Amino acid sequence: MSEPGVEQELALVWSERLQIGHPIIDRQHKQLFDLYNQLVNAFYEGTGQQQIYQVVTDLVTYTQHHFRDEERLMAKGGYPELKGHRQQHQELIQQVSSFVADIDESAPVLTYEVLSFVKCWLLEHILEQDMKIKAWLG
Ligand SMILES: [Fe+2]
Repeated sequence: MSEPGVEQELALVWSERLQIGHPIIDRQHKQLFDLYNQLVNAFYEGTGQQQIYQVVTDLVTYTQHHFRDEERLMAKGGYPELKGHRQQHQELIQQVSSFVADIDESAPVLTYEVLSFVKCWLLEHILEQDMKIKAWLG
């Protein structure tokens, strides 16, 4: 067990400023936060490796599903910067996939650095990139 302050530092907290205003995207972003927070809890509580591996896999699968939906909606709305946005999604998936590939299923390595990377990426991406698509989604 760790000090509560540290736990809060890694956890992702949803707030109105993160809302894009599109029901599907906002719901999926909240779901990503939930999955990520499960990892944070597992990290601090020393949850079994098998369970951590499962949550990591769920998070990756859900992220891919979410990116597909978001890109489909951007394309439908004629968002002019779709290419660059898609590129960012692909880069994240590549980075995370190489992390997952390094995981030995019997002993996954979940570190503070990996968790803060994912947290910062999600927050920055939503606030800076996803916010720009707001006006293009019907
Ligand atoms: Fe995005």
